[in-house]
Amino acid sequence: MDIQITAQAAREIACDVLLVGVSRKASEAGIALSSQAQSIDELLNGIITERSTAGEFKGSAGELLTIHPMGKLAAQRVIVFGLGKQGTITTQSLQRASATAIRHAQKTGAQQIALTLWNDGIMESALTTQALVEGVLLGQYTFKKYQSSSNDRVITQLRILTEGDDTAEITHAIHKAQILAEATNFARDLINEPPNVLTPGELANRAVAMAKQAGLEWEVFEKEKIEELQMGGLLGVTQGSQEPPKFIVLRYRGAPQSTDKGMALVGKGITFDSGGISIKPAAGMDEMKGDMGGAAAVLGAMQAIAGLQPALNVTALVPTCENMPSGTAFRPGDILRIMNGKTIEIVNTDAEGRLILADALSYASKEGLSPIIDLATLTGGIVVALGYTMTGLFCNDELLTDEILAAGRAAGEKYWPMPLDEEYAEQIRSDIADIKQTGGRTASSVTAAKILENFVQDAQWAHLDIAGTSYGDKKAYQEKGGTGVGVRTLTELALRLAQ
Ligand code: BES
Ligand code: ZN
Ligand code: ZN
Repeated sequence: MDIQITAQAAREIACDVLLVGVSRKASEAGIALSSQAQSIDELLNGIITERSTAGEFKGSAGELLTIHPMGKLAAQRVIVFGLGKQGTITTQSLQRASATAIRHAQKTGAQQIALTLWNDGIMESALTTQALVEGVLLGQYTFKKYQSSSNDRVITQLRILTEGDDTAEITHAIHKAQILAEATNFARDLINEPPNVLTPGELANRAVAMAKQAGLEWEVFEKEKIEELQMGGLLGVTQGSQEPPKFIVLRYRGAPQSTDKGMALVGKGITFDSGGISIKPAAGMDEMKGDMGGAAAVLGAMQAIAGLQPALNVTALVPTCENMPSGTAFRPGDILRIMNGKTIEIVNTDAEGRLILADALSYASKEGLSPIIDLATLTGGIVVALGYTMTGLFCNDELLTDEILAAGRAAGEKYWPMPLDEEYAEQIRSDIADIKQTGGRTASSVTAAKILENFVQDAQWAHLDIAGTSYGDKKAYQEKGGTGVGVRTLTELALRLAQ
């Protein structure tokens, strides 16, 4: 897609669709028009205001109103899209509003799009611009490479109408939006690939290809090296699979002079989770191709970080393998020894994510990396607790908690703080090993996090359980499949920590 910024007047922009965001007034009925929307309304003889008064369009989030200018503008069509009530608008709601609009435009044949910007005088215009552009680039995402005939047309051109002011800031916001959206869509592609294509080896190949393109250092540990490092969790989980495991390491050096080792991003990379010997029910098992959503988020974030160049060091660690049942698979009852020497009594082979993460967290803390942020589609328990709306945030440091919540708000992703209180550790006490692998039915996302805590030593650490947010059903603003959650928050966090 060709993306351009233009100061050309709205009336003169020749395009298939001109997108105009309009909000709803906070206190009274009716819509609030930004200056760009106001002038378009005037060129259209006040039709937007008139349709609002008539009750056809209220400016609510997700609403769409199509107008055919019949020559009054160079655009073939104007799509007015609702942004929601003023005062309730967030980066996430802006992203979803423009994503909904672009998806409608795309489905109805548009290829050349022009986007007007929006500002309410409250939110920073760089932030609202970034959110609207991200929404457009995220909304147009589809994954159709395995369909021989797809009717979907692709958007070929996006022109963003600035009014000439704030240009340096607006230009940067658009640049940032583009990098973040491309990285999110890269993560989505990884998640959406079928598990026969995206094996651990292929995940490593794609990570390396991205690293070369982005100018990151990379290393992929093969099974022999993983054995040498005594990563007993990763070796235990991979045991039942024909596909060799990999341990992917990518490095971004944004502060080469610094003695600070920098941040670690750790992602769960189970390319298919059958449950192993404790096999999952058949219904929905296909979605377990998405059990590498944490890995995808971390790799996407590394791509965006390389693009935006914050002044800090970041290391990505991705343990990746399949979890399969077979005669060679690990069993309930087994005891595995993790890289840091601690032993885990296996209770249920479907709780495999914590085992491979334990090795990766051990590796990160041994390298002296801090903070360590891990992302994982870890538990069904977090879906019970928070549904598909929020990611569970477990963190051993209050300042880091606040930084992640703030980064999430700026990035348009929602996180909810979850507990790590010591009482929960009782549930994972083993009679026979250092730790029991699972803590039973209650608070299962918390006991999973408590297990991970054993492997971070004294690093600042946050665990993001994305089981509910990494994979989504079809929505007006997104395709069914990988959401790419985490990419934008992690990148935003890196930018903030670098300051
Ligand atoms: N990959 C799953 C968690 C998951 C569930 C991800 C739903 C995405 C959507 C994980 O490996 C798993 O199976 N967890 C079990 C652990 C249990 C057996 C202790 C769970 O949470 O149910
Ligand atoms: Zn599992
Ligand atoms: Zn899993």
